Amino acid sequence: MAKITIEIDNQKHTFEAPSEGLSLLEIANENGADIPYSCQSGVCCTCMGKIVSGTVDMDSNMALDDDEVEEGYVLLCQAHPTSEEVIITYED
Ligand code: FES
Repeated sequence: MAKITIEIDNQKHTFEAPSEGLSLLEIANENGADIPYSCQSGVCCTCMGKIVSGTVDMDSNMALDDDEVEEGYVLLCQAHPTSEEVIITYED
């Protein structure tokens, strides 16, 4: 299990997530983060956040280019943690 912190709307949500199974989007929203989403297929970019610390794997990514991924942008609907701790922010 990884420790996940998501900062959105000036609020921090902290919870644990496994490296496979439900996406970080699903787990975050089950924990009250209220992250926006639409397609849940890695296409629309609605769920895009930015990794501040840690690493994740994406099942599918049809929206972000390599530069964006290198900068830390991530589609939460496709993401699973690969480090012990991951911090993700949502900018307004
Ligand atoms: S909800 Fe569309 S890319 Fe994640």
